[in-house]
Amino acid sequence: MTYRIALIPGDGVGPEVVAGAVSVLEATGRRFGFDFEWQELVVGGAAIDAYGTACRPEDVETCRSTDAVLLGAVGGPKWDDPDASVRPEQALFALRGGLGLFANLRPITVFPQLIDASPLKPELLDGVDCLIVRELTSGIYFGKPSGPEAAADGSRAAVDTLRYTEAEIRRIVTLAFDLARTRRKKVTQVDKANVMSTSRLWRKVTEEIHADYPDVVLDHRLVDSAAMVLARWPAGFDVLVTENLFGDILSDEAAVIAGSLGMLPSASLGTTETAHGRHGLYEPIHGSAPDIAGQDVANPLGTILSAAMLLRWSLGQHEAAAAVEAAVTAALDDGYRTRDLLSATNRDEAAVSVVGTKEMARVVADRIAI
Ligand code: IPM
Ligand code: MG
Repeated sequence: MTYRIALIPGDGVGPEVVAGAVSVLEATGRRFGFDFEWQELVVGGAAIDAYGTACRPEDVETCRSTDAVLLGAVGGPKWDDPDASVRPEQALFALRGGLGLFANLRPITVFPQLIDASPLKPELLDGVDCLIVRELTSGIYFGKPSGPEAAADGSRAAVDTLRYTEAEIRRIVTLAFDLARTRRKKVTQVDKANVMSTSRLWRKVTEEIHADYPDVVLDHRLVDSAAMVLARWPAGFDVLVTENLFGDILSDEAAVIAGSLGMLPSASLGTTETAHGRHGLYEPIHGSAPDIAGQDVANPLGTILSAAMLLRWSLGQHEAAAAVEAAVTAALDDGYRTRDLLSATNRDEAAVSVVGTKEMARVVADRIAI
């Protein structure tokens, strides 16, 4: 069996962390008996330099023709001019929209070995196992009209539009309930229903869907309160489902719980089924980190854990996915840390080996070969 995977290394640390994940995926192929055919694409700031656009339509088509897409990160100061008409982030929207990837899954778990790296008190981290399900192809990121406009008095103004249709809400909330059934059977739907009519529609539609899931506990929470509870009692959340912008903000907040943004994976899924599973795009939650690019210090574990999600969701290789996660755990158990995982308390401990990006990927791949 040969799987075709589109690789989008992107910008900044993207190429380094993707290279690490590729070596780990190849190790799973050797152990479990399958191969990969990599289809490398230039997307993001690199594509602006090469082609004048962040993502060419033919690259979206190539992604569509593969079994899954693995992405590092896009963006960097070189392309940051707010007035520029082409921006690296447009690549993400072209891929998400073009491939119909409406569901962004961001699992937040705490590796016990890294409890010291989290700024939260250890007793708050016990039992944290939250899955953020973020709507990804609608809401204020995509609503029209959007852009600058003139105010009545001739001064500057700008508009962004927040619109959700029932169908868009229904498909993501249904997925959240389905996922909750495989977990602790609790869904928290997050909105701003005391202010916004889109939020009130989210609540109504979610209540209706809940009727088909009597075994799942549903609660609604306003986004400001959800932000507070995430820091006060993160273990209380199971599946958290919310719209695009709220999900973007809450998932970065939740990432702090895990100790480092560098640890967290994500999957973006649509409804397209391939011969092996659901087509999807997998990427770490962190960005391109231009300040540390090219120095072999970035943490590849978020991308490696994204590769585990790829194996599970898009390739149906559940055993291989579990082997990757176990190998990450084993590498942490053996004391390997990239420098973002050093906390004030264990910084000088002899038991910890500080390693770079390549070495961290190598120790994980070695633990898969076993
Ligand atoms: C994310 C990122 C993107 C988003 C940016 C880079 C456009 O923050 O994937 O969370 O807001 O979706
Ligand atoms: Mg974000």
